[in-house]
Amino acid sequence: MRNKRILLGISGGIAAYKVAFLIRLFKKAGAEVKCIMTPASSDFISPLVVSTLSENPVAIEFWNKSTGEWTNHVDLALWADVFVLAPATANTISKMAQGQCDNLLLATFLSLKTQSIIAPAMDLDMYAHSTTKRNLEQLKADGVSIIPAEEGPLASGLIGTGRMAEPEIIFDFTMSFFESKEPKVLQGKRVLITAGPTYESIDPVRFIGNHSSGKMGYEIAENVLRKGAEVVLISGPTKLHLSHPNLKLISVFSAEEMLQSVQEEWNAAHIGIFAAAVADYRPMEKVDQKIKKSDDALTLQLVKNPDILHWAGTQKEKHQTLIGFALETNDAMAHAAQKLQKKNLDFIVVNTLEDEGAGFSTDTNKITLLDRNNKTQVFELKTKREVANDIIEYLITFIEQKS
Ligand code: C5P
Repeated sequence: MRNKRILLGISGGIAAYKVAFLIRLFKKAGAEVKCIMTPASSDFISPLVVSTLSENPVAIEFWNKSTGEWTNHVDLALWADVFVLAPATANTISKMAQGQCDNLLLATFLSLKTQSIIAPAMDLDMYAHSTTKRNLEQLKADGVSIIPAEEGPLASGLIGTGRMAEPEIIFDFTMSFFESKEPKVLQGKRVLITAGPTYESIDPVRFIGNHSSGKMGYEIAENVLRKGAEVVLISGPTKLHLSHPNLKLISVFSAEEMLQSVQEEWNAAHIGIFAAAVADYRPMEKVDQKIKKSDDALTLQLVKNPDILHWAGTQKEKHQTLIGFALETNDAMAHAAQKLQKKNLDFIVVNTLEDEGAGFSTDTNKITLLDRNNKTQVFELKTKREVANDIIEYLITFIEQKS
């Protein structure tokens, strides 16, 4: 569930108080949670509680009367990996089945491109009513997953079926949705990935670095982990976190350290994806003490760093597939083609800073894939998560054709 984006809808029933526990479970599992509440639900659970636990602002109205800002329901819907509605009241279920959208939650539901899971909660007669049954059947036919209400004591004092499933059940249901989703096409493959920048020390407190966030490499790691691969992620300094039973994360600082780890790991890998922004040069001298401010000018002499990807290319065996990145500012394809040959790659991911939204510290990227036969595949500007998937889908086809 780590880094999964859960859009949690809350409608107005007494079971809404249990949502606090559900949010805790999602957060503890490493998910990102954003909540949308129907106006009525805030009578049952305070938006402050929901916001505090989810660590995100809560969306309730189309626009905020005090700031004049509006909430973009389309953005919220597209952000989500999954939509979970808990509790789902008879009223909201009925409106969803009809396609009504007279509040923010309903409008967001209509904008979703991903799976919806709902956990109905209401009094026993409402749950048993033919209209509710019909509405739930309709939603099921529309592809919505329904976690059936449970039997037990109800807020009305009656005993019967209508209780919302417990937060643990809703959590497990959501978890199994993610687990079952991705076919494990890379099971048995070991993938070595380099990511992030390298920092080259000037003295004990200063370094030469670059703006690489590491996001592209981490998204690739997550993607292949979902597809069942074992991953060795050799990462320069980043703010990102990733943990998974099939992940070996090796944190390094400099290019020389990265090279050393790659040299230890490349032999056992089937696939190498080199997304790190390795510093081309490092200070020649290793200074043990902080350099003092003295003269007006300071000259640093730099020496070339090892080309890690080039080294991996020289060691590449027939069964291994090697992928590099080329970030260019001009003549992108010509430069990338040279790198492909020189570094003995199977294909190269080209992005150019000439394209707006592409490159280092953005959340998006625009890539072209170039292979050894000079064939290119151009992609639109997309989120790095989507770009990672495009690269890996291309890689899977490449490996299938090779064998
Ligand atoms: O030659 P250039 O730095 O543009 O090549 C970029 C590709 O080579 C990237 O895949 C990058 O991770 C890799 N690289 C490397 N070691 C270096 C420089 C680049 O692995 N010293």
